[in-house]
Order: sequence, then C-alpha cells, then structure tokens
Amino acid sequence: MDRIDEIILERIKRDTVSGEELSEILGISRSAVWKRIRKLEEYGYTIDRNRKGYRLKEGSDLLLPYEVRPYIKTNWLGKNYIFFEEIQSTNSFARENDYPDGTVVVAESQTAGRGRKGRKWISVPHRGIYASIILKRNINPYVLPVFSLLFPLAVRNVLQEVSGLEVKIKWPNDLYVNGKKIAGFLIETDLEGNTVQKIVAGFGININQTEDELSWILDTATSLHIETGNIFDRKSTLGKILVELEKRIDSFSPEDTIREINEGLLWKGEEVYIPDENVHGKLLGVDNYGGVKILMENGVKSFYSGDLSLRKVQKKE
Ligand code: BTN
Repeated sequence: MDRIDEIILERIKRDTVSGEELSEILGISRSAVWKRIRKLEEYGYTIDRNRKGYRLKEGSDLLLPYEVRPYIKTNWLGKNYIFFEEIQSTNSFARENDYPDGTVVVAESQTAGRGRKGRKWISVPHRGIYASIILKRNINPYVLPVFSLLFPLAVRNVLQEVSGLEVKIKWPNDLYVNGKKIAGFLIETDLEGNTVQKIVAGFGININQTEDELSWILDTATSLHIETGNIFDRKSTLGKILVELEKRIDSFSPEDTIREINEGLLWKGEEVYIPDENVHGKLLGVDNYGGVKILMENGVKSFYSGDLSLRKVQKKE
C-alpha cells in the first residue's frame, strides 16, 4: 500500500467517486485505478461499485499503515511504518536494511519467524501482532539487558489494559497468562566495537488465534482470544503498544524498570531450574543489571545470558 492507495481510500470514504475522476486526480490511467481498487479489495476493504463509481463501505482488519496510523499517537516511534502481508521475518528484514531510528516493521504473516535460542516463531496469518522496532541509539551495552526489559513491560501493560487479564513476565522477556506463553520478544543488537549501532526489538503477540490454530502447542501457549473468548482489535492494540513504548524509551529509568519487572515477575519465590546449567533454586527476582537472582544451596547467584531459559520445578502430587 502506498500514498496513491491512501488517497483513493480518503476520497472514496467521503463520496462516490468515478474511475475517471480518480484517474484525473491521481494522474494514472483508469485501468491502473481499477487495479488498485482490486488490490484494496484483496487487502480486505469492502468497496461498492455502481454506475457513479466507487464508494468505501468497510475498512480492512489488516495492520495496514492507513488503518493503524490513527492509533499511533506518538512523536517519533512508528512515524515510519513498513507493512508486509507476508515476509520471512520482520527482525531479519529490519536487520538487513537501513531504516531510520523509530521505524516499525509489521507483517500479517511470517514464513520464517525467529524466536530466541534459534527456535521458530509460528505466525498464524492475520491473528497476531508480529512486529520489529528499529532503534539507532547509543545505548551503553552494559545497560542493554535492563533496557531490553522495557519491551515486555510496555506490551504487558497494554495487554492487561485491553483484556483485563493478569499478564506475568517470565525472565528474561516472555509474557505469560494463566501459566501459558502469550508473547515473546527477540531483541537483537548490532555492535561496532563497544558501540551499539542498531537495536532490533521484535515481538510476537498471540491475539486472536483460536485453540485449533494453536492446537499443537496448546499445553504451553495461549492467546487473548483463547483466554477470554473475545475478539480483539489488533490495530488499536498495536497503536497503544507503540505509544507506551515511546513513553518508556523517552523516560527510561533502570531503577523503575527493575522495580516494575520484579512486581510482575512469574514464579517469584518459587522453585525453578535452568536446563543444561545444573542450576536449581528459589527465584528471588531480577537484579539491578537485568540478571535473574536464584537462591541455591551454596548461596545467591545471578544469571545473565539471554540464552538461558527458566523452568518451574513441578511439585509431585
Ligand atoms: C521468542 O519467544 O523466542 C521470541 C519470539 C519473537 C517473535 C517475533 S515475531 C516478529 C519478530 N520477527 C521475528 O522473526 N521474530 C520476532
């Protein structure tokens, strides 16, 4: 979708406009206008056609720039908004291309969505929010683990607000509802020496996926729809996330971030382990550097690597 499509939508939203008039306004042929109308219908717009011309009946549910922009009430984040119906991975695209600070890349589906630790992220088309944010800021690499926690915090707030559900943060940055994962974050950094060149913060959120669509991972994953039975508006939800993120980035405070993470931390005070690391103990919380503190037999130890995963020790019945 480009500027011409947006002008067409603006015009036919207000009045019935003939193909001839549109072709004159836009300086393109009538058949080019017709092709664009067809494309807009493919994008999910309902357009009435009669003798007098075209008239927009209903908007699209897709996360198209024209649809989401009214909700992006930000100063800089998402002003550059790149949309794909399908792409391999929004994170890979954001890393491989040069776009300005604050660019947001959104896709309706991904054919090779990536998760942490080399895992796949399956993106059911049109049901979730799959997006990557590009930041080009000179953030101290030592602060990055704490800075990265902004993203799950912002998304958590918005998901709680729109759904009324309690959303918990599983260190380092998964979001859980009722013991199941609802969102994941893949935060990748390009460094030159010790200087951060680019941060690509990708997130996948399960919004309207049905039980059938997640059937193969239902024991560990869920969606807002599965938890509530409601259908959620992805467009306004994405807008709210960008507003919340911008606020948190602009006023970033490591102390407040750590405090908030600890308030919403999953399994705090419970027995956990880290597979492959022979770590086993009580989860105390997140320390000032973004690491996870665990009380083990030989004392308290913090773990930092974003490649680690916590698991809960299942109590025997
Ligand atoms: C995880 O839970 O392991 C992280 C999942 C991150 C998925 C998102 S979807 C948008 C962005 N593009 C990707 O390829 N991955 C992230």
